[in-house]
Amino acid sequence: MELFLDSANLAEIQEVAPYGVISGVTTNPSLVAKENKDFFAVVAEISALIPGPVSAEVLATDTAGMLDEARQLAQIRENVIIKIPMTKEGIKCLPILSKEGIKTNVTLIFSQNQALLAARAGATYVSPFVGRLDDLGFDGISLVQDIVEMFKFYQLPTKVIAASIRHPLHVVEAAKIGADIATIPYKVFQQMFEHPLTASGVEKFMRDWQERVK
Ligand code: E4P
Repeated sequence: MELFLDSANLAEIQEVAPYGVISGVTTNPSLVAKENKDFFAVVAEISALIPGPVSAEVLATDTAGMLDEARQLAQIRENVIIKIPMTKEGIKCLPILSKEGIKTNVTLIFSQNQALLAARAGATYVSPFVGRLDDLGFDGISLVQDIVEMFKFYQLPTKVIAASIRHPLHVVEAAKIGADIATIPYKVFQQMFEHPLTASGVEKFMRDWQERVK
């Protein structure tokens, strides 16, 4: 499973990039709004820093407006992926963008039917939201698993991004059920490094080494 960073914060992305484990970035309007910067400038900075796919979401809600924004965003750099919301207007954009060679990530997926519609319309990626489903008492990871199996069964090329990841166990579960990608907030990425036995183990090795008989 590939790991993407779910962030629009340049400092976070710069810090995480040297580990070499992040192969892409996803943003959304809420994350970009927190940065208080020009949207296109944020996408340009991130896509210059990360060579892999960088998802940027359209803000228009009608097909013509979304297509217009999609084309402008796609011109920033070839690794920019256009995030399209799972609406009827959004789905209509997919065959058109696909014909133009513009890659898409259909966001706000909460059911298998939505994922199937997006895949059939030509989405490059779909993003089922795990945490937001869990919040309502549904099983977000089961949805990701059902979508992964459905795409495999019908040999649909659309990749599945487990999104709305809230804690390290979500990452483990997404990997176990075969998600192509998990997009992870900075905080969860940091938590993935941690284990108390690693910390105490390093400390003991250092202590024993310093106390060796010379
Ligand atoms: C996915 O691409 C979204 O940006 C993100 O995962 C949403 O997560 P949230 O539910 O924590 O806002």
